[in-house]
Amino acid sequence: MKLKYISTLVTSFLLIACSQEVTEQGRNMNQASRDLTIWPKIQSEVKVDPLIEARIDEILAQMSLEQKVAQMIQPEIRDITVEDMRRYGFGSYLNGGGAFPNNNKHATPSDWIDLAEAMYQASIDDSLDGSTIPTMWGTDAVHGHNNVIGATLFPHNIGLGAANNAELIEKIARVTATEVMVTGIDWVFAPTVATVRDDRWGRTYEGYSEDPEIVKAYAKSIVRGLQGTAQSDFLGDKQVISTVKHFIGDGGTENGDDQGNNTLSEQELFDIHAQGYVSGLAVGAQSVMASFNSWQGEKIHGSKYLLTDVLKNRMGFDGFVVGDWNGHGQIPGCSNDNCPNAVNAGLDIYMVPTDAWKPLLENTIDQVKQGIIPLTRIDDAVSRILRVKLRAGIFDKPSPANREFSGKVELLGSKEHRDVAKQAVRESLVLLKNDNNILPLSPKLNVLVAGDAADNIGKQSGGWTITWQGTNNTNLDFPGGSSIYDGLAEQIIASGGQVQYSVTGQFNAKPDVAIVVFGEEPYAEGQGDRDNLAYQQENPKDLALLKSLKAQGIPVVSVFISGRPMWVNAELNASNAFVAAWLPGSEGSAIADVLLKDKENHVQHDFKGKLSFSWPKFFNQVVNRFDENYQPLFPYGFGLTYKDTDKLGDDLAEDFQQVSQVQDMRFFEGKVISPWRLSVVSGAQSLAVTSNSHSLTGISYRTVDKQVQEDAFRVEFSGDEKSAIKFEQAYDPLTEANLKIQTNIKDNSTLLLTLKRESEVNAPVIINLSCEAEDTLNKGCTSRFDISQQLASAPLAKWHTIKISLKCLTASDKLKESGLSSLTLSSSGAATFSLSDVRIQSQASGTNTQCD
Ligand code: BGC
Ligand code: BGC
Repeated sequence: MKLKYISTLVTSFLLIACSQEVTEQGRNMNQASRDLTIWPKIQSEVKVDPLIEARIDEILAQMSLEQKVAQMIQPEIRDITVEDMRRYGFGSYLNGGGAFPNNNKHATPSDWIDLAEAMYQASIDDSLDGSTIPTMWGTDAVHGHNNVIGATLFPHNIGLGAANNAELIEKIARVTATEVMVTGIDWVFAPTVATVRDDRWGRTYEGYSEDPEIVKAYAKSIVRGLQGTAQSDFLGDKQVISTVKHFIGDGGTENGDDQGNNTLSEQELFDIHAQGYVSGLAVGAQSVMASFNSWQGEKIHGSKYLLTDVLKNRMGFDGFVVGDWNGHGQIPGCSNDNCPNAVNAGLDIYMVPTDAWKPLLENTIDQVKQGIIPLTRIDDAVSRILRVKLRAGIFDKPSPANREFSGKVELLGSKEHRDVAKQAVRESLVLLKNDNNILPLSPKLNVLVAGDAADNIGKQSGGWTITWQGTNNTNLDFPGGSSIYDGLAEQIIASGGQVQYSVTGQFNAKPDVAIVVFGEEPYAEGQGDRDNLAYQQENPKDLALLKSLKAQGIPVVSVFISGRPMWVNAELNASNAFVAAWLPGSEGSAIADVLLKDKENHVQHDFKGKLSFSWPKFFNQVVNRFDENYQPLFPYGFGLTYKDTDKLGDDLAEDFQQVSQVQDMRFFEGKVISPWRLSVVSGAQSLAVTSNSHSLTGISYRTVDKQVQEDAFRVEFSGDEKSAIKFEQAYDPLTEANLKIQTNIKDNSTLLLTLKRESEVNAPVIINLSCEAEDTLNKGCTSRFDISQQLASAPLAKWHTIKISLKCLTASDKLKESGLSSLTLSSSGAATFSLSDVRIQSQASGTNTQCD
């Protein structure tokens, strides 16, 4: 034993010494302190089956190298055709967030099945690739079958954590498996078992808790619910393959940076971040997704220590490791289409969306031929894939269109399923404040329902909802679902009360009480990363609304929609009651079951939810259960019931310094930086950017990948109409006072645009900075500059930063004095380029631009 351990260490050292890139990382890695004994051996309930093992050997012995590597390639449905599947026989494929059969958001279950069936049939067709191994389809069913219109959408994991009910979680997973099976899909990329330590992380809501306790209990239940149990229905006709993700440490990166670096010690990595794997693998999770993040400076996708030595060899995981979305391409020395290091480290399936799959396939085959990847490693990877397929009956089950639940559309969003979701919604609500026991409310009152989340199923469902970011859904995208307002209105009207609805809190007859539903706009992954937790920073209008109702003597019940705890001291002060509702999903109506009494004035359902995340007392606080000097506003486990007396009061400290944008005014840095909003303009028409592509006459916009997913965007001006992209602040009458952006423009300010030119540029491309709303006294406060020369001389197809001294702009003095209200890039000609960063720097060194 000891000997084996020492030899592993020696091998790791040798490997490190041999490769240049890795040597660099090795410095931070402190290899000498690696300790495999920290990690337990896990006895999976799913045992090795000698019959399956014999079949694996038999199949493997007949496979060509090309067929083997194809098993390891997972392309995305937007980038392959059924013919590609026939030709190459990929082991699996996926649909990314917002990818649908025929690119149709409203694809029906039978469209999903048709695609699954066609891909399957092509995979077992050996006419071109000589292989009859069935493929499998993986999807992100992370809160129900969330890519499919009409599915039951459960609260996101953060809400389920507050419910702290492992039995319910298993039911949810079973419902999810059923709905996924209705569309002919085999495999889901869930559960996320991240333990989330810094709520500024954009994926906080994908985690159950900041503490491993609930994560550990839940991983087991979810995996059992999805896959069935080893004792009875394991991967039977009603189950799907599950994935525990993202291995490992995704919730513990520095500053909560998505895809960032986790610097914890190995013991802490295990204690805090590994618990979902410990329990998930014990009940037989068949796949593990490698994480985008690094541990101690090394990308997990390239970590042989974590993927092979720890996960496979030590913990005994015998399923496969799937990569995350081109995550292999982020390993130093790798690119999306070339990465032997990942396979050598222990990755079994490359998740390779985009058109990189083809060169990756070819390069990998070559690398095996050249001995860069040992054939034994390939055989191990393919054996793992075959093992999972055999265990899941993929070889023996009928084809996707002919399975137990396929096409049973009545199961998708069935009443029974929605009832499970409603229970989850009720149990996930956490009551933070209930001054004078204002809740529960009599349904016979005159109730004003306000706030822009009250009748907005998209907003209450958050990211990973039909589309990746979840920003472009309307209530019509949720047939069978309900908004929070729907439930309130139905019950109030049925009980003889009155309901008035107004987003901005207008009313005819003065209401007895206002229920204001507000919160974060949807986001997913890095797009949701934040610098601090101050809710009011982007959303002053909600506080203004609460205050104005309060000032009119109307008691206020706040229902807060969010993917994380946030600093809401001022909003709490302005509310009589405050409910953290997280991201409840498609069954918003269930909230009324808790807030309202029934007709006979009895409580219908009391609050059950308890915080699985500490609630911050300060806007810049990072606070977790068991911290030394633990000082949350509400501790882990907090949650009032109707039997409790609330003593919070209305005088929480509200002081909050707007965190100054340091030196730079950032408009775009991998994402639009609040409070700016981006729109696409064509002639007199303007369209807010809410989706990954938009087009108007003369202009098309779409997100593209620079370093990570969708961290840049491409604008294509066609010349058919004067058009533009425009960063501006939305004007909101309620927040007039907050409209001004402190202009950081100084004499030496420089506008920086990081861009990639993608066409010839012959027509003017105008930058316009404006410090006025069109009809103010500041007329003339607009500065323009033609950047077409700089653009034309930027290298083609390469990222490059152009710098423009603001001295070059007319009227820049006025800009200094007044607040900036918009930045526009417009053209009437043809030009195409991508942008990844737009900012004004007040002290730029080496400005290389002349004004003429
Ligand atoms: C996006 C990717 C993202 C993925 C997640 C896709 O639609 O384009 O950037 O990582 O969804 O599934
Ligand atoms: C996410 C994963 C997801 C994958 C496939 C990635 O962007 O990080 O959680 O499973 O996309 O959609």
